[in-house]
Amino acid sequence: MTMNKIDILLGLQWGDEGKGKVVDALTKNYDIVARFQGGPNAGHTIEFDGKRFVLHNIPSGVLTPGCINVIGNGVIIEPHILKGEIEGLLSNGFDLHDTLKISNRAHLILPTHRALDAANEQSLGKMKIGSTLKGIGPTYTDKTARKGLRIGDIATPDFHDKYDVLKKSHLQQIASLGFDMNGFQLENIDFAEYEKRWFEGIEYLRQFSFIDSEYFLNEALDNGKKILAEGAQGSMLDIDFGSYPFVTSSNVIAAGVCSGLGIAPSRIGNVYGIFKAYCTRVGTGPFPTELFDEVGETLRQNGHEFGATTGRPRRCGWLDLPALKYAVMLNGVTRLMMMKSDVMDDFETLKVAVAYDYKGEKVKRLPFEACTETMVPVYQEIKGWHQKINGSIPQQLEDYIRFIENYIGVPIKLVSYGPDRTQNIYR
Ligand code: GDP
Ligand code: IMO
Ligand code: MG
Repeated sequence: MTMNKIDILLGLQWGDEGKGKVVDALTKNYDIVARFQGGPNAGHTIEFDGKRFVLHNIPSGVLTPGCINVIGNGVIIEPHILKGEIEGLLSNGFDLHDTLKISNRAHLILPTHRALDAANEQSLGKMKIGSTLKGIGPTYTDKTARKGLRIGDIATPDFHDKYDVLKKSHLQQIASLGFDMNGFQLENIDFAEYEKRWFEGIEYLRQFSFIDSEYFLNEALDNGKKILAEGAQGSMLDIDFGSYPFVTSSNVIAAGVCSGLGIAPSRIGNVYGIFKAYCTRVGTGPFPTELFDEVGETLRQNGHEFGATTGRPRRCGWLDLPALKYAVMLNGVTRLMMMKSDVMDDFETLKVAVAYDYKGEKVKRLPFEACTETMVPVYQEIKGWHQKINGSIPQQLEDYIRFIENYIGVPIKLVSYGPDRTQNIYR
C-alpha cells in the first residue's frame, strides 16, 4: 500500500507571491490545511464573489466550508490579533469553532515581544530589517533560548506568573537598548491597554481546541485524509538560506514542514512552489533586479503592490531566475505556479535575470555575500504578450513560461491572471 502524504504550498521569492489565493483555490481537494511556521507577519489575501479577506495567523482553508484548519507547533501566535481575525470571519458568516485547531506547542507572541521588536529595529538604525513589528524575531529567539510561553501553558495554573517573569526580562532588555516604553503604543493604543486586550485574546482562545497537532496530523494521514501545508513568507526570507540578516526568523522552506508540524520527510508528497511573473520585496535587504524607474512603478500600480499586513509599498523588479532556481532546489519543488501574469499585460518587452555579473565573473549561483551592489543581473529580453489574458494563454506568454521551465527544469502547472479565486489557467 502506498503511504498517504502531505502536500506543501510555499512561496519561492520574498513573500506575497499569492499563497493565500492558491491555497484557497486548492482547498476543495483537501480535508485539512495547516500552517507550519511564521505568524501574523504573514498577510494572505483571498478574493471571491467581490469579497476580500486578509488572513494573518489563520490558515487559508477557512473560507472553504468543512475544511479543518490547523495552526501548527512551528507557528507563533498573537492572541489579540488571532481573536480579531476569528471575530472578523465570524461576522462574515465563517464560524471557526469546529474547524480551527491550535497546537499546544505553538509559541505565544507577548506584547513585550512586540515592544522588543521595535526596540531592536530602532537600535539597528540604517541596518534595520524592515520587520513587520509583530514580535516575530524576539518570539522565535525566546523559543530557541528555551524561555518562551506556549499555547498549552494557557491551561496551567501558573500561566500569569510565567508571563510576568518573561515580561520582566523583556523590559530589562528593552531598557538596555535605550528604548523608552513611556508613551509606547501598539496598534495605536497605549501599551497597558494593549496588554489588557492581549489577555482578553488569551481568554477568548480558550473556546478553541488546543491539540497535539503532530498526533492529529499523522493520524489523519493514516486515515487517508488529504492535508495541505501552507507556507508563509518566501524562501528568500528563510532564516538559513535567505539574504541574512534581512530575513524572517523561521525556516520557511519545505524542511520547516517536518519540524513545524511533526511530519517525517518520507511523508512529504507534492511541493507546489509559487512565484510572481516578476519580483517584489518589502523591508530592507538585497534585491538585485529591483527597478527604480517607471517600469518598477508600473508593476507596483498594476499589481497593487502594497503590503497586506503593513500597507507599505513593495519594491518591484524583474524575475530573478538564479534566485528562483535556488529556491526550487532548497524546497524540492515538484510543480510551479506562476502568479500575477496579468500585471505585465501592457508590456511590449520584459526582462528576466538569467545570471549575475559578480565581481567580474558571470555566475548563476547565489553568493554567500548577497548584495545588490555586487550582483549585477545579466538580463535576457523577452517579447511581451501585450494583450489581456482571459482564460487562455497567449503565444508570447507561453514562450515566457517555456523559457522559465527550461531554465528551472520543473513544469509550471498553474498560471494565475487575477486576484479572484477563479482566475487560474491549469496547464
Ligand atoms: P501571499 O502573502 O503570498 O498570500 O500574497 P499577498 O496576499 O500578500 O499578496 C498577493 C496579492 O496579489 C493579493 O492582493 C492578491 O489578491 C493578489 N493576487 C494574487 N494572484 C494574483 C494575480 O494573478 N493577479 C493579480 N493582479 N493579483 C493577484
Ligand atoms: P507573507 O506570508 C513579505 C519580511 C518583512 C521584513 C522581514 C522580517 O504574506 O508572504 P519579520 O516581521 O518576520 O521580522 O520581518 O521579512 N516579511 C514579509 N515580506 N511577505 C511576508 O509574509 C513577510 N513576512 C515577513 O517585510 O523584511
Ligand atoms: Mg502577504
